[in-house]
Amino acid sequence: MKIGIVGLGYVGLPLAVAFAEAGNEVVGLDADARKVEGLNAGRSHIEDIPDTVLASLDERLRASSNQAELESCEAVIVCVPTPLTGSREPDLTYLNESAATLSAVLQPGQLVVLESTTYPGTTRERLLPILEESGMKAGRDFHLAFSPERIDPGRTDYTVRTTPKLVGGITPACTERARELYALVCEEVVALSGPEPAELAKLLENIFRSVNIALVNELSQLCDRLGIDVWEVVEAAATKPFGFMRFDPGPGMGGHCLPVDPFYLAFKAREHDFYPEFIELAGKVNRAQPGYCVDRIARALNEAERSVKGSKVLLLGVSYKPGVGDVREAPALEIVTLLRELGAEVSYHDPFVPEIAELGLRSVALEGALAEADIAAIVTAHPQVDYAEVVAAAPLTIDFRGVTREIESPSLVRL
Ligand SMILES: NC(=O)c1ccc[n+]([C@@H]2O[C@H](COP(=O)([O-])OP(=O)(O)OC[C@H]3O[C@@H](n4cnc5c(N)ncnc54)[C@H](O)[C@@H]3O)[C@@H](O)[C@H]2O)c1
Repeated sequence: MKIGIVGLGYVGLPLAVAFAEAGNEVVGLDADARKVEGLNAGRSHIEDIPDTVLASLDERLRASSNQAELESCEAVIVCVPTPLTGSREPDLTYLNESAATLSAVLQPGQLVVLESTTYPGTTRERLLPILEESGMKAGRDFHLAFSPERIDPGRTDYTVRTTPKLVGGITPACTERARELYALVCEEVVALSGPEPAELAKLLENIFRSVNIALVNELSQLCDRLGIDVWEVVEAAATKPFGFMRFDPGPGMGGHCLPVDPFYLAFKAREHDFYPEFIELAGKVNRAQPGYCVDRIARALNEAERSVKGSKVLLLGVSYKPGVGDVREAPALEIVTLLRELGAEVSYHDPFVPEIAELGLRSVALEGALAEADIAAIVTAHPQVDYAEVVAAAPLTIDFRGVTREIESPSLVRL
């Protein structure tokens, strides 16, 4: 098959590679000319896809900026970003733009699948009308379905092939076409009655995580008051083999999904005069966690008879999770801003993030920086860092990830 993928990011590129590895011809369209150029020169911009994988595809995957390339594809999968606006409402700009692009080149018989995470109704109410501006009718002249992406960047135990794939088309025939498409690369495809349950299932998955993370984040604050080690509590509860799923506290929630997706559902709910309280409360607790971490840094400095103002704070890890360089919505960004507002001098070390342009910061070498800092704060625990050495070298260390539990030191504080 010839398959088009619109948007070659964390979702689109691994999917494009999976289809190409299965022997299909894949053309990826991206609005970012540097990504297109890089990919065609064999350079990957996604940690999970090494350059060697691109080289092994025998040119079955090509990147392009030319929308006309989509005309000859049997199926086109849309994987563009779905962020929030400044007022935390769904921002469907990328989706609308890519739909307009597609509408201009849509061919009879083509299958279009949306993978971007969004609120229930988007495929039918937003994407379908734009595609039908082509003069063709969905379900009759072309096929249309939604299939949520479940990729977890950095994860190796579950892949595109081994993670079950949900599909829901606007007609049973659309669902069947989508099922056939994903059966090329997924061991299990689960057909649903339409796009809406598929859209909402993805949101449920992410809201489930957001709510549970909020629960343990709030518990971490309570444990602080009670003088109980929250990590010991979580670990103890996790020994129960049924009825409990472990979530760890931390400095807040980051990435393109968890801090964003719940608000897509809250927006849709408000349209129906419904106010989903779990979602809003979890968002509120998780968004307050970076501020709580800054309070903990201030307290730790205070114990050492220092003020935040004028102190040198070194953050260890700024991406939103270990092993990736993605800083979108990362709690570290908020922590830097809040510390600067209090007059701290902030630097960071992150092997995956060479610079944070919007904050005017570049990653510093660990050696030297640790001794120079007044406090080192472990915000994201990348596996490459030796945390025993960090605790030994820094005058004071605060650990928001529970990676120093085996270490005893008077200069160490944990969430
Ligand atoms: N990152 C994840 O872990 C993850 C997991 C599951 C679902 N999702 C969802 O998948 C979608 C994509 O997320 P992502 O992390 O891959 O984003 P990303 O920013 O990494 O990639 C999106 C790509 O789309 C390109 N793009 C934007 N507008 C375009 C257009 N009009 N035409 C062509 N290309 C365009 C961008 O240049 C970018 O390369 C989002 O809806 C997200 O919520 C992400």
